[in-house]
Amino acid sequence: MAETTDVLFVDGVRTPFGRAGDKGIYWNTRADDLAVKTIVGLLERNPSLPKERVDDVAIAATTQQGDQGLTLGRTAAILAGLPTTVPGFAIDRMCAGGMTAVTTTGSGIAFGQYDVVIAGGVEHMGHHPMGQGVDPNPRFLTEKLVDPAALNMGNTAERLHDRFPDLTKERSDRFGMRSQQKVAAAYAEGNIQSDLIPVSYRTETGWGLATEDQGMRPETTMEGLAALKTPFRPHGRVTAGNASPLTDGATAALLTSSRAAKEFGLSPKMRMVSFGFAGVEPEVMGIGPIPSTERALKNAGLSIDDIGLFELNEAFAVQVLSFLDHFGMDDDDPRVNLWGGAIAIGHPLAASGVRLMTQLARQFEQHPEVRYGLTAMCVGLGQGGSVVWENPHHAKYGK
Ligand SMILES: CC(C)(COP(=O)(O)OP(=O)(O)OC[C@H]1O[C@@H](n2cnc3c(N)ncnc32)[C@H](O)[C@@H]1OP(=O)(O)O)[C@@H](O)C(=O)NCCC(=O)NCCS
Repeated sequence: MAETTDVLFVDGVRTPFGRAGDKGIYWNTRADDLAVKTIVGLLERNPSLPKERVDDVAIAATTQQGDQGLTLGRTAAILAGLPTTVPGFAIDRMCAGGMTAVTTTGSGIAFGQYDVVIAGGVEHMGHHPMGQGVDPNPRFLTEKLVDPAALNMGNTAERLHDRFPDLTKERSDRFGMRSQQKVAAAYAEGNIQSDLIPVSYRTETGWGLATEDQGMRPETTMEGLAALKTPFRPHGRVTAGNASPLTDGATAALLTSSRAAKEFGLSPKMRMVSFGFAGVEPEVMGIGPIPSTERALKNAGLSIDDIGLFELNEAFAVQVLSFLDHFGMDDDDPRVNLWGGAIAIGHPLAASGVRLMTQLARQFEQHPEVRYGLTAMCVGLGQGGSVVWENPHHAKYGK
């Protein structure tokens, strides 16, 4: 009979994120090679772990074709030099793919079926523009199962502005500007770099080495943001300055049972406490993290006030603001996105969930007074995903 065990987040890494498109640093780099880089980096950072002891590799991508096809977890594991005895699989829950890779394999650990897993995600939005090649079932529209607007994420963000008039463009712009400023400050303090795996890349002008995110705009001002076009609707409120940019990048995390962590001398950076996924109306998908967080908190027996640090994916400023309003939190709540977020760093869809976790894990080290943290994100077609984590540096950990 398998024993249940704690699920430990031992380590998390990512590639620097690049801008999608032919001006992006990874335009000539394969998506699967980005995933491979993160797995190799993760294993190099944890040399006491024998590679053959990895029980499974789950890598998420939203578009699973071309250089993101062929069952990524398996192909990336082989390419990363893991023994052929180590299995792997691909996973998809659009933006929450990487998060779902973590919760799914983490559940396998909790149930005693795995000791060590690698879970992550990759999205090369330059090679795989959102929605390209998809063939939605016509019933979605003919039977009015979803509003046509729900198929375009920017439109769903505009719908949130419509639904909640208090969520003004000015608030979204300010949130976007603050994200840029916080990321710049986090880089200046060296908070982000320690979990980046440098990636060499080739452009028309030669080789380069990526050591930081390409899309940051630290010089952002409110005046500059006010002048931007609203690409999703004439006189709309969503712009390139208050939305996450199209991004290429990959992430990977190492999760173990408490037994395996002890065996290999690995220290946990976080313990998984609970998780929740939830569905909402697809045309306002950005509110998805509200019910998923309520579910995750209920599963943990905690309330929102127990959460001391929040890593919320900034798909769009307006959807983070809708979360903050719902829970009665300020736009600039000091517990939320300490080091900025996806508006400045980028959001390579399926990769982002593990970026949130990696950053929360680092913040836990710096904040031993915080016991619980939350990672949460919205998901296309109307979903949210949330995971509650415990800080091993807190005095009450394990008590
Ligand atoms: C919003 C979006 C359409 C913008 O795409 P884009 O036009 O290619 O974006 P760009 O980076 O070229 O920015 C557009 C313009 O805004 C400017 N800009 C962007 N951010 C800025 C900032 N913070 N400050 C000032 N100017 C800024 C750019 O310089 C550019 O100016 P230009 O047209 O004079 O060159 C795209 O980023 C998008 O679709 N984002 C959402 C992605 C998404 O849906 N993800 C899934 C979430 S669920």
